[in-house]
Amino acid sequence: MTETVSFPQSRACPYHPPTGYAPLREARPLSRVTLYDGRSVWIVTGHAAARSLLADQRLSTDTLREGFPMTTERFASIRDRRRAALLGVDDPVHNRQRRMLIPSFTLKRTADLRPRITEIVDERLDAMVAQGPPAELVSAFALPVPSMVICELLGVPYTDHEYFEERSRRLLRGPTADDSRAALDDLETYLGDLIDRRRKEPAEEAPGLLDELIARQLEEGRIDRKELVDLAMILLIAGHETTANMISLGTFTLLQHPEQLDELRADPALMPAAVEELLRFLSIADGMLRVVKEDIEIAGVTLRDGDGVIISTSVTNRDAEVYQDPDSLDWKRSVRHHVAFGFGIHQCLGQNLARAEMEIALGRLFDRLPGLRLAGRAEDMPFKPGDTIQGMLELPVTW
Ligand code: HEM
Repeated sequence: MTETVSFPQSRACPYHPPTGYAPLREARPLSRVTLYDGRSVWIVTGHAAARSLLADQRLSTDTLREGFPMTTERFASIRDRRRAALLGVDDPVHNRQRRMLIPSFTLKRTADLRPRITEIVDERLDAMVAQGPPAELVSAFALPVPSMVICELLGVPYTDHEYFEERSRRLLRGPTADDSRAALDDLETYLGDLIDRRRKEPAEEAPGLLDELIARQLEEGRIDRKELVDLAMILLIAGHETTANMISLGTFTLLQHPEQLDELRADPALMPAAVEELLRFLSIADGMLRVVKEDIEIAGVTLRDGDGVIISTSVTNRDAEVYQDPDSLDWKRSVRHHVAFGFGIHQCLGQNLARAEMEIALGRLFDRLPGLRLAGRAEDMPFKPGDTIQGMLELPVTW
């Protein structure tokens, strides 16, 4: 057992796991961490153990279940408002919901979206170039690209983006627990109203997944309005916040690794491998939360019914037994089986889409702006605290 380590902690460098997690690396594959409320829970940091537990249905993602690990006060305060959709539910409900959505996120469907994603990326770059240099890359590029893409996919009007982006931001990292609750109320009302409107007047132009779910699931009585609101919410939030962080932090990381950036420029065919390695290296969604439903024996310990379990993406993805020299960025390594998108039944539904967006966004950005560089010192670039999805708060750049 190690000394007590608190979880979550903020990173010292935006692309490395917090230095305070060093004892967890020593104690692989499992150890204990202390949460904000003083509670002690399991943390999984070994690659094999992480994949085994993520695939184990004796673990639950139901936040209402006794013992579920609450990692922040803000998160605990909205516990009673559990989103009964995908990430918050176990099988069989989870399986029923996931099957409704899978056709919209297959490799084929994502491949069909690539030309439109490229257009969106190019439009944003044109607008940024027309106004700069300099530019603030998060607001000018990293956020609008995935936000526009998920809006089109769902059929949510992008004209409302400021409203839902601001609420998502406050939900994930509002200044107070009350503020996060209010943001959640707003998002629920917004999506509920949108669904009601579309039921009365179906979208004539460019109907999206939401319209499809209204017609095929809601009107057919297979799901109710609340379940559809919950599904729409997770898709809308997960669809823009995560990828936006990967684009901003990915850009920062590439600018801090000029050799790897040159390699990528010399051989654009490396881009898919680079995106995969960036996903492993950055592990922006650090901390998959579970509670034990039935005792589990693993790595010489017993996880008891009701124990909280956190799978640390960032530490697991730097397991030296699986990745040689894990703290270096290397396009040539095999990164298969990283857990940046999770694993098992909850493995990221949007991973094909996220990969396509990252490849196109990073590829076009560095192609179009060969002189891209930070507009300021790297040490001064603000990044997100440890209790939320990791990424840059702002990224001032010039070219
Ligand atoms: C690079 C960007 C992204 C990263 C790093 C990421 C990461 C993750 C991770 C780690 C999980 C599993 C969480 C857990 O098991 O506790 C997850 C689940 C999920 N992600 Fe993503 N995600 C990304 C982009 C997206 C996009 C673009 C969408 C689009 C809709 C999306 C939708 C979802 C959904 C719906 C789930 C829950 C799936 C389920 O429970 O069956 N994600 N994501």
